[in-house]
Amino acid sequence: MSERVFRVWRGGADGGLAEYRVEVNEGEVVLDALHRLQATRAPDLAVRWNCKAGKCGSCSMEVNGMPRLSCMTRMSVFDEDETVTVTPLRTFPVIRDLVCDVSFNYDKAREIPSFTPDPATSPGDFRMAQVDVERSQEFRKCIECFLCNSVCHVIRDHEENQPHFSGPRFLMRVAELEMHPEDTADRRLIAQDEFGLGYCNITKCCTEVCPEGIHITDNALIPMKERVADRKYDPLVWLGSKIGVR
Ligand code: SF4
Ligand code: F3S
Ligand code: FES
Repeated sequence: MSERVFRVWRGGADGGLAEYRVEVNEGEVVLDALHRLQATRAPDLAVRWNCKAGKCGSCSMEVNGMPRLSCMTRMSVFDEDETVTVTPLRTFPVIRDLVCDVSFNYDKAREIPSFTPDPATSPGDFRMAQVDVERSQEFRKCIECFLCNSVCHVIRDHEENQPHFSGPRFLMRVAELEMHPEDTADRRLIAQDEFGLGYCNITKCCTEVCPEGIHITDNALIPMKERVADRKYDPLVWLGSKIGVR
């Protein structure tokens, strides 16, 4: 066991960093240290967690300025003499200490038109190719930790963009529905105009922080951009829209 120095955000938006020394055992993660801090010196520390296994997406926070799951961040990744700074996710309003209000994400989720299968297809009639199953299965691994939405500079550094940008998590959801062979809705224009796909300039920070290793940029966002370009710049589609055919 060794004693490590932590700086932890305390309070709401006008709060500040408080320094603590916390004992840490070999093999422990940041969340273990926060629990020990709660148990010993800061019983009122607000920290959200649930599974402690990287699967519920609750324990998201910023560790040394990087959005991470605290239950999956081993203390061994930091130098012994390094101060570990723990703050709430920067992109969403802090409620208290390490807990922030992520309702922005749920509002965005509700805006997405739901799965729209062809009503002419009866249950049991539809067969899905394995390649289509695998494509959407990758996106289904999402645990809604919102690390990707928190790291994306479009809203992390520009709060004013939030009404117009769903963030990578929900642009990926739009792509998942758009790529589903049984879905009949066309979400290409709303992806661009209402969910802000055009704001994404492919920095790939979302992919880098995803704890599920989902290739958000390469497998969801770029293919979605290509589909939007096909729809928007296809001369036949353009002509059809002008004469009211499509
Ligand atoms: Fe978290 Fe990855 Fe889902 Fe984004 S896509 S919410 S980073 S699991
Ligand atoms: Fe943001 Fe990811 Fe695009 S970080 S800019 S949504 S590639
Ligand atoms: Fe569930 Fe960390 S506590 S992902």
